[in-house]
Amino acid sequence: MSSRPVVAPVTSSTDVFRQDVFKGKVVFCTGGGSGICKSMTEAMMRHGANAAIVGRNLEKLTQSAHELSRVTGQRCIPTQADVRQPQQLKDAVATTMATFGRIDFVICGAAGNFLASIDGMSENAFKTVIEIDTMGTFNTVKATLPHVRASHGSYIHVSATLHYKGTPYQVHVSAAKAGVDALSAVLAVEEGPRGVRSNVIAPGPIGNTEGLSRLSNQLSGRRNNFPLGRVGHLNDIANATVFLFCDAAVVHYRPDTSRRWGYRTPQNDR
Ligand code: HXC
Repeated sequence: MSSRPVVAPVTSSTDVFRQDVFKGKVVFCTGGGSGICKSMTEAMMRHGANAAIVGRNLEKLTQSAHELSRVTGQRCIPTQADVRQPQQLKDAVATTMATFGRIDFVICGAAGNFLASIDGMSENAFKTVIEIDTMGTFNTVKATLPHVRASHGSYIHVSATLHYKGTPYQVHVSAAKAGVDALSAVLAVEEGPRGVRSNVIAPGPIGNTEGLSRLSNQLSGRRNNFPLGRVGHLNDIANATVFLFCDAAVVHYRPDTSRRWGYRTPQNDR
């Protein structure tokens, strides 16, 4: 008898959630041109959303947007921006609003990564990843928040599990993603009273991604620790995305828009 664990087949979100659950909604996704964020966007589109994907490489984005539109039957537009540049993000948001008229959901996923020891990493290398991951998330929230407030929408930030324990050669990403986790928590409590939600998805190693191919040496020898005996699948993250954005994640929730802001701040005291 085989001692291999029995692993249930990976299920696509299309099999589980109502097909039209996001009909008429719009998702704005940084890093949506490839990898985890592309499949998160695809899952949203397969359930009726239109999408804008954001990245630095317009050629890659355009190709991905065509592919996403073709396989889902929804509309996806490429919007070129470097998340380190606030004005470029504002322009991407303006293009999205001009095209679709609303933004309901935002996926903050643009990220940089490479393996380097603290000793071997330059100050600029560390700063670059903080600027892409943490500052990029802040810039994306700033650019989209007025529209997400208007639609009582929701954010998902793509974090990681690297910083839960020390992960060698990942000091930059670990620090950056810890910042993303904190940013999401503050966004959730500040904007919750206005009907805006914020959550983090923290993928472990996910198969068929650039992140895993870059870091796979770090994971060899750890596979026995994976509860299901396999690395994560893109559909695992896609399904979590659909759940967190849909109403199932907020049963009985009604934003009280008449409620005045609950915390005293210099602006609110005016
Ligand atoms: C050491 C490096 C480096 C490397 C870049 N740098 N790559 N240092 N090792 N491999 C340094 C450069 O020398 C430079 O510092 C500084 O970083 C900026 O590099 P640039 O190339 O000028 O910047 P830029 O063009 O903006 O690109 C930076 C980058 C890119 C976006 C971080 O290098 C990159 O890694 N792209 C891949 C994106 C990616 O893989 N995304 C998926 C993430 S998934 P100096 O001092 O020379 O000026 C993820 C989850 C992982 O994060 C979870 C898995 C389990």
